[in-house]
Amino acid sequence: MTWLITGGAGYIGAHVVQEALKSGRDLVVLDDMSSGVTARLPTAVELERITLTDAGAVESVFAKYDFEGVIHLAAKKSVGESVERPDYYWQENVGGLQNLVTAMMKHGVLNLVFSSSAAVYGEPNIEPGQTISEFEQCLPINPYGLTKLEGEIISEALTGSDGFKVSALRYFNVAGAGQPELGDQFTFNLVPIVFEAIDSGLSPKVFGNNYSTPDGSCIRDYVHVQDLAEAHIAAMDLVESRQPGFEAINIGTGVGASVFEVLAMIQDVTGIELNPEIVERRAGDPAALVADVSKAKDVLGWQSRFQLRDIVQSAWDAWQVSHK
Ligand code: WQD
Repeated sequence: MTWLITGGAGYIGAHVVQEALKSGRDLVVLDDMSSGVTARLPTAVELERITLTDAGAVESVFAKYDFEGVIHLAAKKSVGESVERPDYYWQENVGGLQNLVTAMMKHGVLNLVFSSSAAVYGEPNIEPGQTISEFEQCLPINPYGLTKLEGEIISEALTGSDGFKVSALRYFNVAGAGQPELGDQFTFNLVPIVFEAIDSGLSPKVFGNNYSTPDGSCIRDYVHVQDLAEAHIAAMDLVESRQPGFEAINIGTGVGASVFEVLAMIQDVTGIELNPEIVERRAGDPAALVADVSKAKDVLGWQSRFQLRDIVQSAWDAWQVSHK
């Protein structure tokens, strides 16, 4: 059985490819290589270097192979960039998905694992300490989150009209590295941002310390990218075995960590003293976003294995490999 993994040359994609190969499936990766790294791809995997916004190119890939299913990871994922370029995000993330599912329908490919995001929840109306379940209302507050919710809506509609079987995995805060060569090379998110500050001899910035949380800084659910990759394999198994239908599933640890706690862990792991600078809050930051992970356990049979220390240690090891 051959599966297509879009975005398989990316940071998360490379981890998913490794795990999918271990599950015994043949793989094809579709990636425009705008942020993908060829060296991350195992030799056993065919690369189709195209962009999902080219409908003809997408169709040609589906005509060339006989796919069992698709893991769709390819998307633009910077919240800040999405605010500046909402049309670009809609074109890439929603337009790309539409071309993908059009080809899937034409070729009778019904299994889809979709990379969604905790960003679909926006700023949920929950008390600090409360976790977020998939039943929470989805009111995204930035174009990035909106494109992810739209992707869920489109793929769910296809379960009724075309018999699609869909698992939409709502990623919480992904970090770490399954192996040092597969680290996150972008500094869009807290952990690599702090590493970059360390390398630059600058103080890391804390976006606000007056939130209604125990230490005043924002709380997030940091999940190891290796755990996340393994959740995708469980999702592949689920969609292959089920009847047509849609499931949105939170992928996190169920445990929150504040910005100050992450900084303390980075200081402990690196042995480098951090003197963070407290700055203004960042627009759109909820005080706390921690996953209720009971559905992942019940429906996927998956739960996270790694803790914050494993995440930070593996991220630091990978950072040093790619920044020596
Ligand atoms: C984490 C916390 C910041 C940088 C992202 C994206 C998206 C989604 C979820 C997949 C926040 C604080 C950050 C800094 C700081 N993932 N921070 N100083 O915004 O929670 O969400 O992950 O779809 O990628 O929506 O992640 O890493 O930007 O911030 O204080 O220099 O760290 O305020 O509380 P975020 P982040």
